[in-house]
Amino acid sequence: MKFSDLVKKRQSVREYLDKPVEREKVEHCLEAARLAPSANNSQPWSFIVIDDLKLKEAVARKTFDRVISFNRFSLQAPVLILLLSERPSFFSRIGSAVKDKQFNLIDIGITAEHLCLQAVEEGLGTCMLGWFNERGVKKLLNIPSQIRVELIITMGYPVSDEIEPKERKEINQIRSYNSYELQK
Ligand SMILES: Cc1cc2nc3c(=O)[nH]c(=O)nc-3n(C[C@H](O)[C@H](O)[C@H](O)COP(=O)(O)O)c2cc1C
Repeated sequence: MKFSDLVKKRQSVREYLDKPVEREKVEHCLEAARLAPSANNSQPWSFIVIDDLKLKEAVARKTFDRVISFNRFSLQAPVLILLLSERPSFFSRIGSAVKDKQFNLIDIGITAEHLCLQAVEEGLGTCMLGWFNERGVKKLLNIPSQIRVELIITMGYPVSDEIEPKERKEINQIRSYNSYELQK
């Protein structure tokens, strides 16, 4: 698939078929994530794949509650991938402090998108979830206190192949050449 097609085809999938995802495909996605660039090549990430049915349900239940239920669809996804931020390398931490930039979160975003784009090539759909009970997830999986769970990525075969129109700002609103000049 052409890269430009991959980018267009990737969308947040919130309805999944009741069909397991082959671990081989999950591994391809993780390999794409592993190859992502990072500040000082720090690779400040790790991944927990949850495909055990019971555990998956328990984790999915940490992404919504009775009041805020928009992530309830995660119950349907056959796989959840937790994206954890590990301690960045010494130089990345120094760089972040000196330059006042959260390099590790930039890195996490890049690896997450690598994973999601590879999923499209595998015929899979994903949705990144940033809204969940992190403390609850960490307790459930015995994740050490200093490690953050940044994202939960739902993964599975999409119910529909239809590509929804992308709601995005116009290019004039986000791009200028040679000076800061945006049309609001
Ligand atoms: C950091 C991050 C957190 C997100 N959290 C959620 C979430 O908790 N629940 C959800 O349904 N979608 C979540 N999304 C998906 C966005 O809503 C979605 O990417 C955006 O609306 C653009 O739509 P598209 O992915 O279909 O192109 C998240 C996306 C990102 C990048």
